[in-house]
Amino acid sequence: MDRRKFLKTAGATAAATLAGTWAMTAAASRPTPVQLRIQTARYRLGESITDGMVSLSPNAPPPILRLKQGSPFAADVVNTLSDATAMHWHGIRLPNRMDGVPYLTQWPIMQGETWRYEFTSQDAGTYWYHPHCMTMEQMARGLTGILIVEEREDPGFDSETVLNLRDFRLGKDDQFTKLYSARKAARGGTLGNVMTANWEQNPVYTHLAGSLVRLRLAATDTTRIYQITIDGAAGRILAMDGHPIREPVPWPSEEQPLVLGPGQRSDIAIVMPAQEGREVVIAHRGGGRVRALARLRSVGSDQRRSLRDLSPLAANKVPNFDPKTAQKIDLVIGWSPDGTKPNNGFCGSVGPNFWAINRTAWPGDAAKETGAIAKLTLGQSYVMRLRNESPNTHPIHIHGLVFRPLRSNQRTLPSNWTDTIVVRKNEIIDIGFVADNPGDWALHCHVIEHQKTGLAGYIRVA
Ligand code: C2O
Ligand code: CU
Ligand code: CU
Repeated sequence: MDRRKFLKTAGATAAATLAGTWAMTAAASRPTPVQLRIQTARYRLGESITDGMVSLSPNAPPPILRLKQGSPFAADVVNTLSDATAMHWHGIRLPNRMDGVPYLTQWPIMQGETWRYEFTSQDAGTYWYHPHCMTMEQMARGLTGILIVEEREDPGFDSETVLNLRDFRLGKDDQFTKLYSARKAARGGTLGNVMTANWEQNPVYTHLAGSLVRLRLAATDTTRIYQITIDGAAGRILAMDGHPIREPVPWPSEEQPLVLGPGQRSDIAIVMPAQEGREVVIAHRGGGRVRALARLRSVGSDQRRSLRDLSPLAANKVPNFDPKTAQKIDLVIGWSPDGTKPNNGFCGSVGPNFWAINRTAWPGDAAKETGAIAKLTLGQSYVMRLRNESPNTHPIHIHGLVFRPLRSNQRTLPSNWTDTIVVRKNEIIDIGFVADNPGDWALHCHVIEHQKTGLAGYIRVA
């Protein structure tokens, strides 16, 4: 075994990987679909085993799916649940019909049915997958997994840790309690009480002392906005939401934590402490408390690696946004006086409509015929104004396209490509993008209780 291989093995995360199961020979060949069986699961999240979870195996978290940049991927999603489902590949720029949005891009996958997804990601980076039908029910019970698209060029890390960050709402007996409350859905959303990384509470991952670790963070919770700090190591933020950064993002500290709203990711280079036994602590700071989410511990002798040993991540090919020719779209995010019950078809409701875009509550998953929020011309540049008129924070997500913030009325935002942006109370953010991918693309708040109670819709690019 050569050194790199050894280091990779030593640093492998606890999460399972399907990398070997669909190995491909050439980019031109059609990959054998990986089978993803949505099923109920049991797992020890706390003191005793929690029943009624949802995953892709009976007793483990959803696996990390590893794709290669520019190589085709195929998955057969099999639904063994009695409820309907549909799988969405968050952040991946793919053909519209592979996007996994029920009634908009496909039919719900009913019990016993299989749906094939096939796509090739030209973008490398950290992405994730989750259902887009019975979204609250299935995500809250566990079905949120990481999807990694590996760069064509290996940047030269010694090892990697992937942290799937999310909460669960459990009672004293470690069984699920009510997944949400309507009262909270009308406000910030319902938080979980058991914070996990890869379904473990504050797990430890070992890496060689002084080695270079790629830390991939993904906030897959239905509600929580993480304020991340990293203590005990030097490092650098390399990518946000899959895309290598264009403008620097400050190193996460108490003064300036790394904010990851539901759906957001970050790729971080870490130099492990030189001394054996030292720990790097990844924590969440909120409500005056610090809660450790996971730790990286140094083992063995000092590898003396430095950030300079890494080759920079190549930018993904994103079309050039042209501010001069850009057309404007205004979206107002706010409370809805509506109170009607959404029409979610087979995809589940969490209550009446509380939220709206442009003062219209999204009538529900099954209500495509209400029309697009905006109609966009293929290839055209746009500046979309997101005006939050509510006292709550909304991580706004757009499918199929990437955008970058241009300005905010409250703060300076690094203008990095993303698919999800946190819009604070009373904040106005202008985002810029090129409508380069044709289709009907969902646009919604990624606090699932908001999404399911009106704060959703779609844009049409044609
Ligand atoms: Cu991550 Cu429309 O979703
Ligand atoms: Cu998405
Ligand atoms: Cu919201």
